[in-house]
Amino acid sequence: MQHITASAPGKCILFGEHAVVYGHPAVAVAIDQRIKVKIELTDSNSHDWKLDGLIFDPKRHPHIEALKQRLWPSSLGAPALSIHIEGEIPTASGLGSSAALSVAASAALRAARGRWLNGDVNSPENWAEGFSSKISDTNVHSNNQPKDSLREGKLGDRVKFISGSQSVDVDECALLAHAVEAIAQRGRASPMDSSACSHGDIVVLSDCVEDGIEWQYSRTLTTPEGDREWQIHTVKPPANDVYLVIGNTGIHAPTSKQVEKVAEMLKNNPDRVKEIETIGLIAKRGIKSLLSGDYESVGRAMSENQLMLQSIGVSSPELEDLIRAASPSSLGAKLTGAGGGGCMVALTRDPKATSEAIELAGGRTIISSFGAKGLELETATETPLWSIS
Ligand code: MEV
Repeated sequence: MQHITASAPGKCILFGEHAVVYGHPAVAVAIDQRIKVKIELTDSNSHDWKLDGLIFDPKRHPHIEALKQRLWPSSLGAPALSIHIEGEIPTASGLGSSAALSVAASAALRAARGRWLNGDVNSPENWAEGFSSKISDTNVHSNNQPKDSLREGKLGDRVKFISGSQSVDVDECALLAHAVEAIAQRGRASPMDSSACSHGDIVVLSDCVEDGIEWQYSRTLTTPEGDREWQIHTVKPPANDVYLVIGNTGIHAPTSKQVEKVAEMLKNNPDRVKEIETIGLIAKRGIKSLLSGDYESVGRAMSENQLMLQSIGVSSPELEDLIRAASPSSLGAKLTGAGGGGCMVALTRDPKATSEAIELAGGRTIISSFGAKGLELETATETPLWSIS
């Protein structure tokens, strides 16, 4: 049977989680561990979607459900699909599993559906359905949307049809994945995970366009606390001999709850915004060190960042134990992602020693290179599985 497969990497955050939700700078690094999504038509004429052989439950998989509504609407006659998800990224553990899933699923659905163009050239200006993040009522926007990009159901002249790898666009996948994260996190989500899992390598988010690195786009989002804007850049991984060792506490910690906890803290005590600002300053310093290749200083900034994460209440005793164990053999260590459980990450030149120390303290470890490839369409067919007629 015809099928389409796409994969996307997970990510670790070097500095800036939580503060980035409020528009402060942050850095994420794509890791070797990936999630792969395979889609094919169901083998019966049933209207039921399948996920790993079972009837698809939208409540258990809100990310897939949101993308299904956006890219594969049954109201327009899209047939039921069977989805298989496999991968090496533990869920709810700060490694971007939901963003990686959304990015890979967006690419697979887009390749399976193809795209009508209103001209010969494949650029967002010519995309017949526009360049829109519209999913439910999220309003994630990108500066590279053409002005009339939020056209809905207006398919223009439809000059040319493209499908498979030709129709997949990394920015579009990143945008849709951000919109899905924003829904899951009740309106408070930075584009950090979605960008890192789409573009791979190292992703730098900032409050301004940074000199000397490749600027990709800006993103805006209206959150319950106000409008946010981020400038997203990518950096190639260094040739340097540094590794990431990830230690998993095995405790599941949903991002939405942790993000809400920080929002509550700021609402009840607005003065604590200073701690969020300090994380932003540490991240700014960390970005400078990263760009100058000074990994000793990068490690120090990570450890300093951890003290602030502790102070805003998103660390946990289990995370602290693993961070303490990793410290003697690493350049720096901290939690990664939303905290409260999940994983910590150490930057090290001796991954074996760091991994053994974390395991001895009770963590399960994963070793990754410092930066990995982004979204990949692994298998695609020439003929779409469905397209708008
Ligand atoms: C989650 O990986 C990182 C957070 O900063 C949330 C976000 O950026 O959307 C906690």
